Amino acid sequence: MKQLYKQSNARRDEDIPVSDTPPYSPKALKHPRNLPRSINYLLKEQRLLFILVGILIGSSFFILQPSLSRLSSTSSSADPRNPISSQSAESGLASHDPRELGQNYGNWDSGTNGYRPNGVGRVPVGIQGKRKRIVVTGGAGFVGSHLVDKLIARGDDVIVIDNFFTGRKENIVHLFGNPRFELIRHDVVEPILLEVDQIYHLACPASPVHYKYNPVKTIKTNVMGTLNMLGLAKRIGARFLLTSTSEVYGDPLEHPQKETYWGHVNPIGVRSCYDEGKRTAETLTMDYHRGDGVEVRIARIFNTYGPRMCLDDGRVVSNFVSQAIRKQPMSVYGDGKQTRSFQYVSDLVDGLVALMEGEHVGPFNLGNPGEFTMLELAEVVKETIDPSATIEFRPNTADDPHKRKPDITKAKEYLNWEPKISLREGLPRMVTDFRKRILNEDEGKGNK
Ligand SMILES: NC(=O)c1ccc[n+]([C@@H]2O[C@H](COP(=O)([O-])OP(=O)(O)OC[C@H]3O[C@@H](n4cnc5c(N)ncnc54)[C@H](O)[C@@H]3O)[C@@H](O)[C@H]2O)c1
Repeated sequence: MKQLYKQSNARRDEDIPVSDTPPYSPKALKHPRNLPRSINYLLKEQRLLFILVGILIGSSFFILQPSLSRLSSTSSSADPRNPISSQSAESGLASHDPRELGQNYGNWDSGTNGYRPNGVGRVPVGIQGKRKRIVVTGGAGFVGSHLVDKLIARGDDVIVIDNFFTGRKENIVHLFGNPRFELIRHDVVEPILLEVDQIYHLACPASPVHYKYNPVKTIKTNVMGTLNMLGLAKRIGARFLLTSTSEVYGDPLEHPQKETYWGHVNPIGVRSCYDEGKRTAETLTMDYHRGDGVEVRIARIFNTYGPRMCLDDGRVVSNFVSQAIRKQPMSVYGDGKQTRSFQYVSDLVDGLVALMEGEHVGPFNLGNPGEFTMLELAEVVKETIDPSATIEFRPNTADDPHKRKPDITKAKEYLNWEPKISLREGLPRMVTDFRKRILNEDEGKGNK
């Protein structure tokens, strides 16, 4: 009886596949009987595929979720006072307390012990830091290196681009190893692609000795270098600042010089590579602004002096100071009655930053309106360095302007800027630096 039952059951099982299999599923006909019913169920109607996709989505969420929450709960893990510090901590960057740097990152929240931006509870990580990424072309030079110091001290990330024509590694060596500082040896005559918020474009030899050395290269730097940097600014939406010069006024017929004055420049003289180069750079800057909507700023810089200037670059302050320290006669070109105004470098750097951060395109004169004849300057150098220093008159150079004095009314009004350091205050600071370097030079350490 039992056997009969088994046989009849077995026959019934054999019949199942034919009768139960749906007619539209030919694959299921091949092997359903050899597999458990649950697997058979899974293989039908692409259920397995749906389950796999579900698992994939679920696991990606669980993998990503912890890192997202770690990023968004930033400030508690590193420096609780600083909204940018946890990002710094994760990437191994130095932290910077905005209170120490005097910046407004928002309101201090004693509950969370952190800064809270005005009116916002929690800030998405991407826009949390006010820290900017900034390129400074010519950042290894005299002015550029001081500007870089200020930006780094403020808490920004700075990339210096320099071909070291007149710049020196010594000017920036103290920043090597700082994770917020990068140096790229590059000639601005060639294009470069970077992602930054602001571009300070300083790359250009500034002293007559240097810009006359290879005049074609000087004008190429001014025209192609400026084009490349403006093209970069346009492409990445960065704000661009051009360091132009009082030389755009040439040998001026207006005194003091206002920004509205169009200048009196010799287009074919030995200084034209610089003067006309900068005038063209200003033209390009305004055309990119008007034509392409690039945010631009133009500074017209008047004579600036301070530590880190090249020792023998032919600029009058560095010449007099080097000569007086070396106990050589100070070279006065012409009758020494031509006038210049001398601005200490930290005043200029403050003006450049105020211009970049402000809302006005310019051009703005940045200079110290205190006016000195060359002979008066020689007297101040004598007082500061060596009362027994002597003067030697030499024939004047071509196209040397007779007068130079900025009218800085516009900068005072729109940038709330004016120089603070007088020549008698600034000169001793420069002399200390020059003494050290000339001593090194004499000892054969080769610091030019
Ligand atoms: N110092 C002043 O009194 C003064 C006055 C007016 C204008 N400026 C302007 O300010 C800027 C800085 O002047 P500075 O006194 O520091 O001069 P600087 O010669 O010390 O610095 C210029 C820097 O640009 C670099 N450079 C030159 N050509 C380059 C190129 N093709 N590619 C990449 N880098 C290049 C040099 O190596 C140097 O580091 C210049 O644009 C200058 O025209 C300065």
